[in-house]
Order: sequence, then structure tokens, then C-alpha cells
Amino acid sequence: MTRIEEIQRMRELEATLEHHNKKYYVENNPEISDMEFDALLRELQDLEARYPEEADVNSPTKRVGSDLSTEFQSVEHRFPMMSLSNTYSSEELGEWVDRIIREIGEVEFVVELKFDGTAISLTYENGALARAVTRGDGKRGDDVTNNVRTIGSIPLKLAGEGYPELFEIRGEIIMPYASFDRLNAEREAAGEALLANPRNAAAGTLKLQSSAQVAQRGLDCTLYQLAGNDLPYDNHWQNLEAARSWGFKISEHTAICHSREEIEAFIAHWDTERKRLPYATDGIVIKVNNYNDQRSLGSTAKSPRWAVAYKFQAEKALTKMLSVDFQVGRTGAVTPVANLDPVLLAGTIVKRASIHNADQIAALDIRIGDMVYVEKGGEIIPKITGVDMEARGADSKPMEYITVCPECGTPLVRVEGEAKHFCPNSNNCKPQIIGRIEHFVKRKAMDIEGLGGETVELLWENGLIRDISDIYFLDGHQLAALPRLGEKSAANILEGVRRSKDVPFERLLFALGIRYVGETTAKYLAEHFRTLDAIAVATLEELSEAEEVGAKIAESIVDYFASEQNKRIIERLREAGVQLEIKEKVRASNALEGKSVVVSGKFPGYSRDDMKAMVEQHGGRNLAAVSANVDFIVAGDNMGPAKRQKAEKLGVTILSLEEFMALISDAPQTSSEVTAETEVKRVDETPVQGTLF
Ligand code: IVH
Repeated sequence: MTRIEEIQRMRELEATLEHHNKKYYVENNPEISDMEFDALLRELQDLEARYPEEADVNSPTKRVGSDLSTEFQSVEHRFPMMSLSNTYSSEELGEWVDRIIREIGEVEFVVELKFDGTAISLTYENGALARAVTRGDGKRGDDVTNNVRTIGSIPLKLAGEGYPELFEIRGEIIMPYASFDRLNAEREAAGEALLANPRNAAAGTLKLQSSAQVAQRGLDCTLYQLAGNDLPYDNHWQNLEAARSWGFKISEHTAICHSREEIEAFIAHWDTERKRLPYATDGIVIKVNNYNDQRSLGSTAKSPRWAVAYKFQAEKALTKMLSVDFQVGRTGAVTPVANLDPVLLAGTIVKRASIHNADQIAALDIRIGDMVYVEKGGEIIPKITGVDMEARGADSKPMEYITVCPECGTPLVRVEGEAKHFCPNSNNCKPQIIGRIEHFVKRKAMDIEGLGGETVELLWENGLIRDISDIYFLDGHQLAALPRLGEKSAANILEGVRRSKDVPFERLLFALGIRYVGETTAKYLAEHFRTLDAIAVATLEELSEAEEVGAKIAESIVDYFASEQNKRIIERLREAGVQLEIKEKVRASNALEGKSVVVSGKFPGYSRDDMKAMVEQHGGRNLAAVSANVDFIVAGDNMGPAKRQKAEKLGVTILSLEEFMALISDAPQTSSEVTAETEVKRVDETPVQGTLF
């Protein structure tokens, strides 16, 4: 084939793949096998590799995503993304309907499902996806176009005809239950925290740094609102139908209603029927169909008057509470957990429910043997929300809260202002010690592979570990001799332990498990004090000077370092050779010594973090906003015009990527080994963190 023919073939493949994509993701009616699809996709990928300048930004190959991490640009919505006012009873809803009919007269309502995901606004220009922006605060959102391109049901190019040159379409990105369950199963296997619900999972996924990872997560998108100057029809219903013909996924579960009764019938139907849908819904949305009517009804500051949401009651189940366990966590906090007669609730069998604390037991007067109401809130474990008093037997007795630790027998304490009881025996109470060790080895802490929860318990039971420092003095032969372990696992553990000695100080500080010192606080503390010894001797006042450290955290840190046992643990960690201070970064040059730099826009081949790392390696300081204090702006592709204007007004030097590179590579190197390039590679290899939590 000639070059021209090959480029023609690219266009042909783009159209064919987009067609099959729609058949598969939107219409659920594939015409070719996955294998045939993959073969066409590979053919296009190969051609794009040979003619990168001819590749379309909306090529179907972009659906696979990339690993290039980019921060999200904040962009203004062309018109605000409002929210809906909620109603919770048919009475309230009836009043709303009556008011509309009073104001407008005869009116058509469109009723739709309220999808429980995260809102998205898609802009199409000349039939191609130009931009996808999250709701954000309603006025500005994040540009997540690259991530959204990986969602199969979103057309990258429109089919059919009659679409305006420029329009926006809004809808909900959802994670179907099947994708959600798969994701949580994977996370559980990897020892990662589970995601509470599909809504959080969808929102978190959309903000992942790697679009390749987004592509794996199985998101879906349903559209429910159009906006633009020259939409084909003057009403919502017909425009949605038109959008369906352009390739968008538009819900089939909608209807036109004329009265309160018809709307109520729709709600009654879907209140039960929705349990069979493969994705989460949390209500019904009722919209006035005609745009003129919508305009005359207008909006309040936050929500339109022409639409309202009716929220379904959270699903509840009634079952018997058989007993209560009291669990002791790594911090010594005691949590009562109810064991239930297994019951079906929102698609899963529930056997346990949390009761939070003693106050909750007293407030609801929950007793063993009671018939209790269980609800699934946003959390993973459902909670008890009430008791069926009528069903209570005559011999039932109020529940007495435990006074001693169920694990070690130490009297529990309750600190003023805290809802929970605590076991103060932190150094000798088994679940606290094991919990601390499990915390120490987990991925975000010391990341010691091979030491999962069960292995930690095994080592404890065989007397090989009593605290976190023992991990560094494990004996290979002893490990290999343990049941279920063997030579290979033992070697694996020792290798993980060895590698953990290079884990940066801030993660070690987090890993220690000092109460209230989470990942972020540990980072701030490490930056402020630089060494563990400095933190250990700091006073309450000095500790409070670090960012985000208040009195409560400061006290907990002082308590931690006052303990003789903790001092001993730290000495043994020191002996083992873990990182007890911030490693000063090796300077590549002093080219940016004393300079404040803002990095803005996108850079081919470098993530924003790469760019920032380079600034630091050459002695510069990264700032987020343009001000008179800034010396340079490194401007990438599509740096915002407002930023550029401001920089020009303030007389701040704007450098292109090439000029920046020239500036740092012309400077004499401070170290012959660590060049900007090798350092950046190191940054590249650190796993990209999503913003899921
Ligand atoms: S219409 C002006 N229709 O609910 C409001 N919203 O609080 C435009 N949602 O942010 C939204 N399903 O994320 C509309 N069928 C539906 C919806 C829906 C879910 C979400 C959407 C919005 C929120 C409103």
C-alpha cells in the first residue's frame, strides 16, 4: 500500500472500530468477535505508530489509555452544572407537581432514573469529543478527557446526522455492580482497602492518573441532558432521542407523564424493579419536558425549578441480632459488631453489622435477641438503625457494655470527648500488636511483600515477632520451618524486609502507627523536622508548628515517644538500618538555585510531576500560583490564557519546554552520576497513586 492508501485505511479502521464499539457498548449487540475487533485495533495501532502525525486524537486506540500521568486542568463550565432539589415523600413530590401545573397549565413531565454515579459534561465539536469535565464545584471542574476517552459507551465521534456543530451533553459516569465487585475482589486479594460503593469507585476512577488503569475499571456512562444553541428540538425528550441516534447511551427506562398519579405509578414500579438493574440508582428524576416551560420556570441559585429528584428510601432489612462481638483495633479502640441471622439486603447476604459505640447501643436500646433494622449506608459494613420493639420478648434485658478488654482483660478507658472505649494496654494486647505489625508492613507503609495478615499471625503465634522491630531480626531457617511457609516464602519475606530498609523516612513515620499520624501528617512532620530524633525530642509547642499538627496529634506523638518500649523499638529499628531521616535529594545542578518556578500545561513525554522533580533537582522551588514572587513559568501545551496574561502583566519570564531544558542542561553538573535524566527515570518508576481515598 502507498502512504496515501495506508492513511485512507487508518480512516476506514477508525470508522469501523467506532461502529463496532457502539454495537458492543451502547447497543449490547456485537456484530464481530472480540478477537476480530482486537485484530482491527492492532492494525490501526501499527499504522498509527508509523504515521503518528496522522493519528486522530479521538482514535479508537485512545480507548486503551496511556500511562502518562497528567494533573487535571481546572476549567470553567460554559454554563453551571446545577444540582437537583430532593424530595423524599410522595406528598412533597405532589406539591411540586401541583405548583408546576398551577404555573404552566397542562404540562408534560419526563421521568427518568436517578443514576448513582458521578456527573460529567461532554463537549462535542463538529461531531467529535472535544472535552470531558467533572462537575467540580458546579462552576469549575477538572478536565478528565483522556480518562473519559477510555469509556467504551461514550462515542468519540458521532454517528448519524443533525447534531449541532457545538453542544454539550451531560450525564452520569457509573460503575456497574459487576465491575465494582470485580474491583473490590482484586483489592481484597492485594490487601488494599475496599471501596465503599460504586459511586465513590466511579468518581475515584475518573480521577486516576493513569488512563490505562481507568480503561481496566469497566466504567459506563448514561447521558440525560443536552445543552447548546442549535439543538434540533425544543424539548428534552426528542433531543434525547436524537442523541441516541448519534450514538449516545440514553436510558430506556424513561416515560412521559402528565399527572401526579402517572408519576407515582412510575416511582412505585421502579422502587422495586431497580433492584434488578445491573447498576445503582438512588431515585427518580422528574423534569418538565418543554424548554420554553423550563425557561419560564427558571432556576434558583443552586437548582432548576423545572426538575426535582425523588429519592428512594435506603433499603432496609429486618433480622435477628444473635450476639455482639467487641473488636479491638490496632489503636486499642473497641468497636461493637453485631452477628445477625443472615439476611438479603441490596443484593448481598448480610451477616454482620456495625453498631459504632456504646452511645449508639444506649440510644437505640439494642438488645441481644432483638429484631433489628439493618441498612446499607455509604460504608462497607451495614449498620443497625433501629429495633422492632413490638417483637421484643418479655425476658429481654438491656445490654451491658463491656468494662474490660475482651482480649487481654485490662479495664477499658473512655477519654473525654471520644465516642469509643479504649484498651490502654497497647504493648501487650494481642490484636493491638498484630494490628500494628500489619499496619507497619502494608503497602502504603513499609510495603513488605510476603508478610500478609495471616503470616503475621503465624509469626506471632510461633513467638517470632512481638513488635515491629522483630521483623528485622527474623531468622531464615526458623521462618522456613514454619507450617505453610517453606524456603521460598521465607526467602521472599527476607527480601521484602531487606528492601523495606530503603523506604523513605516519611513512610516509616507513618508505618510506626502513632495514633492520629496518617500518611499526610507523617509527610508534613518529616518535612518539618527532617529526622525521627528531632520529632522524638520536640515539645508540644514545637510539634504544633508543623503543618496540620494540632494539639491532639501533638499529644499523641509526645505520648508515643515517652514510652520506654517504643524507645527500645526505635533503637532496634535504627540498628536494623531503616531510614530515620529524610535523605537529601542529590542536586543535579544549581541552575535554578533560589528561583521560584511555576510549571503549567502539558509536556510531551514528561508528566507534571517529572517537571516538578526536575525543578527541585536543579535547586528550584515549585510554586502553584503565578504571583510577583515567581521567577519563571515553564509553559507547556494549553497553558490557560488567564495564567499567561497574568504572567505577562507581572513581567514573569515564560519559558518553553525547550528553553527550560536548555537552561538546566547548560549548567555545570553537581554530580557526575545523577543527571537530570537518570533522576527523572527514578521518578517515573514510582507507582502513580490515584486519588481514590
Ligand atoms: S438532570 C440541573 N438527570 O443527580 C440538573 N441528573 O443533584 C441536571 N443525576 O448532578 C441533572 N441521574 O449527577 C439529571 N436522570 C438524571 C440524573 C441526574 C443522576 C445526578 C447528576 C446531578 C445530580 C443532581
